[in-house]
Amino acid sequence: MILFHFPEFEQVGAELLQSVRQLKPGRFRRGRFSNGEVFVELDTAVAGEECAVLGSITPPDERLLSTLLLAHTLRKNGARKITGIIPYLAYSRQDRNKLNESLAAQWTGALAQASGFDTVITVDVHSIEDQRLSPIPLISLSPAPVFASALKEYQLMGATIVAPDEGAIARCTAIREGAGLPPEPIPYFEKHRTETGIQHARFVGAVGNQVVLVDDILDTGATLVSACQRLLCAGVEDIQVMVTHGLFTGDEWTGLWELGVSRIFRTDTIPTPAEPMNGRVVTLSVTPLLAKALSGT
Ligand code: R5P
Repeated sequence: MILFHFPEFEQVGAELLQSVRQLKPGRFRRGRFSNGEVFVELDTAVAGEECAVLGSITPPDERLLSTLLLAHTLRKNGARKITGIIPYLAYSRQDRNKLNESLAAQWTGALAQASGFDTVITVDVHSIEDQRLSPIPLISLSPAPVFASALKEYQLMGATIVAPDEGAIARCTAIREGAGLPPEPIPYFEKHRTETGIQHARFVGAVGNQVVLVDDILDTGATLVSACQRLLCAGVEDIQVMVTHGLFTGDEWTGLWELGVSRIFRTDTIPTPAEPMNGRVVTLSVTPLLAKALSGT
């Protein structure tokens, strides 16, 4: 299998090439014409070959097109099978079919198929609905083993794992299982979005002094800030956060530091140009998950 990876995933790409025996490096160039149009040019022959594209579609408008165009170019040049490796699937939160609103999760799936992808592998897809809406197989890798190791490494095995909304309960359960902790109900918040922001209406369950809040996405941070406020009122002394995809949009999320959050764990699914914060953000690698998935394709 030939792996084509974009420069924003230089490190992940290099690690995959090292750890997956059947992968060979593919070479290509991405550029823009003077009028702004994106283009790609292959430097590796792909006729009859199985290929993988490691790409990002966030910030969506900058990278989505080149990832799709690369798949199209591989297909046009005779690639036999093309697997997309898109660790963070932007647009996945637009997964509810509401009258007059875009259903972008379906749209990105259709674009991926039309561009030549046969399968897409992602990490911790937002919802099962995303997989239902995709016209091609959308494989979601659980980050639970990565977070379970962090629980052990950072002495967090005694912390209460809390879900900031009902959608995050399954993620919390998987992390507990991965860490070998006995099964127990996950405490969670009932979350509502109102015109003025996030409202955590009711907390179900009980917590100890130390909490690990788990979510798939930290975008503005509004969800986690609101959950932390409630936990502090309930007497929790140490709160740490685990998120698969750290978008860190705007400034609201920095309120987590003001609330005393001692650490944010995130994975490297979103290429971040430079560590935007201080040493309290720990970046965990998802490369072992991707390597395992690719070894099985
Ligand atoms: C929503 O259902 C997701 O699981 C996250 O809770 C949400 O996307 C986080 O967004 P924000 O950080 O802007 O509250």
